[in-house]
Amino acid sequence: MKDIIRSHYLKLLLAVCLLMLGTINSVAEELSLKLPPSTMDKWYKPANKRQVWLHNMFSMRRELQALKEYAAAGDKKLTKKWADRLVKHYRKVGEMVPEWKDELELEWATRMETAAASGDLESVLQAAKKMGRSCSTCHREYRALAVALFRVPDYSSLKVKRGSEGKELGFRDAMNELVTYINRIKIAAEDGRKDFALKATADLKDGLHDMGKSCATCHRGPEPRERILGKQTDDLLTDLAQAIQAEDKKATGKNLGTVAVIACAWCHGVHRTAYDIKRLITH
Ligand code: HEC
Ligand code: HEC
Ligand code: HEC
Repeated sequence: MKDIIRSHYLKLLLAVCLLMLGTINSVAEELSLKLPPSTMDKWYKPANKRQVWLHNMFSMRRELQALKEYAAAGDKKLTKKWADRLVKHYRKVGEMVPEWKDELELEWATRMETAAASGDLESVLQAAKKMGRSCSTCHREYRALAVALFRVPDYSSLKVKRGSEGKELGFRDAMNELVTYINRIKIAAEDGRKDFALKATADLKDGLHDMGKSCATCHRGPEPRERILGKQTDDLLTDLAQAIQAEDKKATGKNLGTVAVIACAWCHGVHRTAYDIKRLITH
């Protein structure tokens, strides 16, 4: 009898443990994030002519530095000048995004104003510390997501013109074409199908060349394209073709790997990861 009770007890204990594990697991896999208010986009390009939000932020960082340096040097007049500017821009944060008024130390801003007017430098510095803490708190919570929402470009409507007849491909389809060529080269080279691997290398070169024309949609200068799809990449593709021709498997693999890092991974590091995060929080 005792044994039966014990075994029931153990089973129950086991079931409770499993249930708890289940809960712990599902909690660990979820993450809730607070998004910046979507109305904030009016302080960004293209809704606004200027990057108003960013300019206000950079001003505050400069003003905080100036007032700290002048207060430390005992210069009351210049401390007041920069404190007044900081207070003005700090209040503007709450005016631009009323949803964030609670994140601000507005009482400390008023104290800073009063202290600066009376030349009480110690109190100015004390207020600067309190206000400074609110900068960090808000940044930790919202900065990355604000960048993803309001500054990371959207590639969904971008087109890549392919071939001499100018067939248009969506950006993602163009990407999938490129990765098909990369793998085709790898597979064909491994299986000793030289001509097939050479054809795929030429296709990859064409594909990257056409892809490169799309950079100008957003980049005015030639430098970003040159860095990723410029001479270095062209030279690597030539070396790759030579290695395939010579049936040098080691050199083929090495050149192909380097092309994939420079022509694909470098661009993904800047554009794709940020875009993935944007999509994750907007869809
Ligand atoms: C209520 C939220 C909030 C508060 C308070 C705030 N910021 Fe920001 N700040 C942001 C967000 C959001 C960004 C990201 C904007 C972007 O990059 O598009 C940002 C970006 C910045 C940037 C530019 C990015 C960087 O770090 O190089 C600076 C500089 C900056 N803030 C300074 C300050 C200073 C100084 C204070 C305090 C006096 C402050 N901020 C208070 C929300 C806030
Ligand atoms: C839809 C717009 C868009 C397209 C298309 C685009 N970029 Fe960018 N690119 C950006 C933005 C935005 C940044 C980041 C600049 C910043 O952070 O302020 C950037 C940054 C970069 C950088 C890092 C900064 C630099 O100058 O080194 C490189 C490299 C780059 N892009 C290469 C390319 C290449 C190559 C292409 C074409 C294959 C391309 N980009 C297409 C928007 C775009
Ligand atoms: C502009 C710089 C840029 C260059 C250069 C680039 N990519 Fe991409 N790639 C992107 C962006 C942005 C996305 C996200 C597009 C999307 O999800 O709509 C992407 C997505 C992809 C995807 C995922 C497609 C899907 O269906 O989700 C693959 C695969 C890919 N790229 C392969 C490559 C390969 C291989 C190369 C090099 C031969 C390359 N890319 C070069 C920017 C670039």
